[in-house]
Parts: sequence; structure tokens; C-alpha cells
Amino acid sequence: MSDVQLTIDGAAASVPEGATILEACRAEGRDQPTLCYLETLTPVNTCRVCVVQVAGSRTLVPSCSRVVEEGMEISTDSPAVRQTRKMVFEFLASSVDMSLVEDQTQQWMDHYEVDPTRFGPAAPDSPAGARDARHAGHHAPPLAGLTETVAQPVKIDNELYVRDYAKCILCYKCVEACGPDAQNTFAIQVAGRGFDARISTEFDVALTDSACVYCGNCIGVCPTGALMFRSEYELRAAELWREDEQSVTRTVCSFCGVGCNLELHVQDNRIVKVTSPIDHSVTSGHLCIKGRFGYEYVQELGDLATTPIDIVLAAARTS
Ligand code: SF4
Ligand code: SF4
Ligand code: FES
Repeated sequence: MSDVQLTIDGAAASVPEGATILEACRAEGRDQPTLCYLETLTPVNTCRVCVVQVAGSRTLVPSCSRVVEEGMEISTDSPAVRQTRKMVFEFLASSVDMSLVEDQTQQWMDHYEVDPTRFGPAAPDSPAGARDARHAGHHAPPLAGLTETVAQPVKIDNELYVRDYAKCILCYKCVEACGPDAQNTFAIQVAGRGFDARISTEFDVALTDSACVYCGNCIGVCPTGALMFRSEYELRAAELWREDEQSVTRTVCSFCGVGCNLELHVQDNRIVKVTSPIDHSVTSGHLCIKGRFGYEYVQELGDLATTPIDIVLAAARTS
């Protein structure tokens, strides 16, 4: 495979044919913010925070999916790029709770001086189920002077994970991970159009009646904390979640012979969450229900639940 010659912010660069602009920029030390992009998923181009300017192109282009071409002149920090990224972040942060985004995303938002409050105060939260009941083409105008948001109650309907769609930026990562990029279960999709678009199950049935097999791969890719282990959710609610005190131990899943790597997140000598390394050749960060949630046998809580963290974890598993 030959190399492609191009310029990035005026500097000559040579990158392998087939690379994306994002890969080319990162190889040259110029990073871009990303939200819907993940190395292990097919790019879906939904968030547009990664846009760059390409000379001769009518519009800004998403760097995460556009492949480099010979002679491209790419600008990663032009006024149009900076303004667009700022505006996209402001639209998102004014309508979605982004309090749990990764530190790097927060740093990008600070870098672009994002001000989500400039659209005015937030409209009241939607009651449970109201956003799910909306029909395409029947969008009511927002209340005068108020910013519409996706705020709504957290969906808690099983003991393994919660869905807080007030934190959903509609990046599609969970849909990709549930579908063709990992799990091939297709339990969730995007329903609705425009501002009413939301993650839904088939025919909007309860998650517990859907095709979901509780692999938790959607949790693993969610960039905003909208999908969260029930254990983490309950510990956060009880103000007992202390990520900076947690240790992460890498091990091999004991359930079958595939050899998936697990990362056990441990706090106060209790497993509070399980992930898998994104760069592991067997899992690419994805697991099945047993590997992700089947760790109770390591530490039976039951009658031993006497410390605050044990009591919360035991309650989460039985409610
Ligand atoms: S837990 Fe697995 S099957 Fe269920 S929605 Fe998430 S990715 Fe799909
Ligand atoms: S739930 Fe998370 S992964 Fe799914 S679309 Fe929303 S933000 Fe993205
Ligand atoms: S990261 Fe490129 S469009 Fe979202």
C-alpha cells in the first residue's frame, strides 16, 4: 500500500492510503475531539465534533470517516472549524446532561469556551415515557424562552444496568455495539426524528421484554454515562462511588474457553464494575453477560452485607 501526500495545517505529511483524516491528524500530533467515534466501531458520523476543513470542499468534513486523498489540504483549527465544534458542543450540552463525559471531552469543551447557557434556561423535564411516546412529524414548539432538553427519569427495570437517557447524545455507539459491530442482537435502535429521536427497543417494548441479552456491550461504549452498571448507579446515588480509589485488575474470564480478558474494578475490596480492554484481540472491549455481570460468585454478599458499600451492592442485586 502506497502513501498519500497531503498537508495538515500547512505542514507536509505522508500517510498510508486508506487512512482516515483523523488517523492522519493523530499521527502528525494533531488531535480532534470525537464523541461518536471509537476504534472498534464503524464510523456513523453523527456528532460532527471532529470536523475539519478541506480546501475545495463545500462543507466541513467529518475526519473520523473521511479517507485521505492525494494532495488534500486539511485545516484542523480554522475559524470555521473552531466555531462549528463550539456550536455542536453547545447544542449538545444545552439539551443533554453531560456531567459524566470523559475528562478529555470536558477539556475540549473548555478549549472551545463552550457556553450551553446562552440559549436560555432549561424547560421542565419530560415525565416518564413522554419522549418515547412522541411521533415523527408531531413535534410541539418548545415553551417560549426556554431551552428544550432530553431530561427525563432514569429507566431502572433490571438489576444489571440502568438507562439514563437524559445523558444520551444519540451517538449511536450502543446501537452499533448491540448490532453489527459486536453483539448482533439488534435489541435497540434509534426511533423518531429530529429532536424527538431517541434510543428505543423494537416496538418500544420494555427492555425486559426485548431481545436484549444483557451483554452490557452498550454500556462499554457509551461515552456519557447514559448506560451504567446498576452497581455504579446505586453507589453514585448513595455518594459512595469513589473512582479515584478503585483498583483495576486484569484477569481472564473463568466461564468458558474463549479467554476473554476482564478488568475488575474494585473498591473497598468489592468488585463494583467489569470492563474489557478495547485493544484485546479476543474481545475488542466486548463481553457476554457472564463475563460482564457474573462476578457475584467471587464475593457472595448476602448476610455478609454489613458495610455501606456491601449493603448498597446487595440491594442493587435483589431489587
Ligand atoms: S445489553 Fe447487549 S443485547 Fe442488551 S441492549 Fe445492550 S448491547 Fe444490546
Ligand atoms: S445511550 Fe450512550 S452510547 Fe447510546 S446513543 Fe446515547 S450516548 Fe450514545
Ligand atoms: S467523531 Fe466524527 S462525526 Fe462524531
